[in-house]
Amino acid sequence: MKLRVGVLISGRGSNLQALIEACAKPDYPAEIALVISNEPEAMGLVRAQGADLTTETIEHHLFEDRRTFEDALTISLEKAGVDLVCLAGFMRLLTASFVSHWENRLINIHPSLLPAFKGLDVHERVIASGVRFSGCTVHFVRADMDAGPIIVQSAVPVHPADEPKDLAARVLTSEHECLPLAIRMIAEGRVRVENDVVRVVGTTSPVNGLINPSGFS
Ligand code: GAR
Repeated sequence: MKLRVGVLISGRGSNLQALIEACAKPDYPAEIALVISNEPEAMGLVRAQGADLTTETIEHHLFEDRRTFEDALTISLEKAGVDLVCLAGFMRLLTASFVSHWENRLINIHPSLLPAFKGLDVHERVIASGVRFSGCTVHFVRADMDAGPIIVQSAVPVHPADEPKDLAARVLTSEHECLPLAIRMIAEGRVRVENDVVRVVGTTSPVNGLINPSGFS
């Protein structure tokens, strides 16, 4: 039985596309059961329909409050038999009640090396800060924004001439690897949450560090 994933999106859906491509491989241990967008014009909906996935639009502004909007999300996700909910560019904050309902079954991808640079306009702030590395993080969601046990991270260099769009593109390439990897590891039962920290079973870590700037002898 493959892990059934519900993907929540708000826009472009390039991470959804990466997951669609991973799921197309016969040995990938997860499948996309449902894609929900809170924005009817989301490009990700077109991608999902192109892959013959079930889609739904649940527009947040049609609901009285966050709670009723989230109840509608949960009803649809449960009806579709979803095991894991994946926020892939879903730009709504979720209440503690939704987060606790899906505890350790709800993941998010964020375009920075968390816990640094939570929130919006990440790449502008990363460049302005002068850090030499940025990256992306896939993590289990907790009630605080962009917080929770980290499953996978990828580090990418920040280049001196980077504009935010250049760094965003470099980070996005890593996101497209990290999200399918995190879901694979969860589906294979390798991911344990112990004291709010993720332990990954049966994997290795890189041996050496990276230095930026490089090229000096
Ligand atoms: C991605 O860069 C994702 O990390 C970010 O939105 C983008 C969605 O792109 N998410 C957040 O900033 C959440 N805090 P996509 O729609 O092409 O996957």
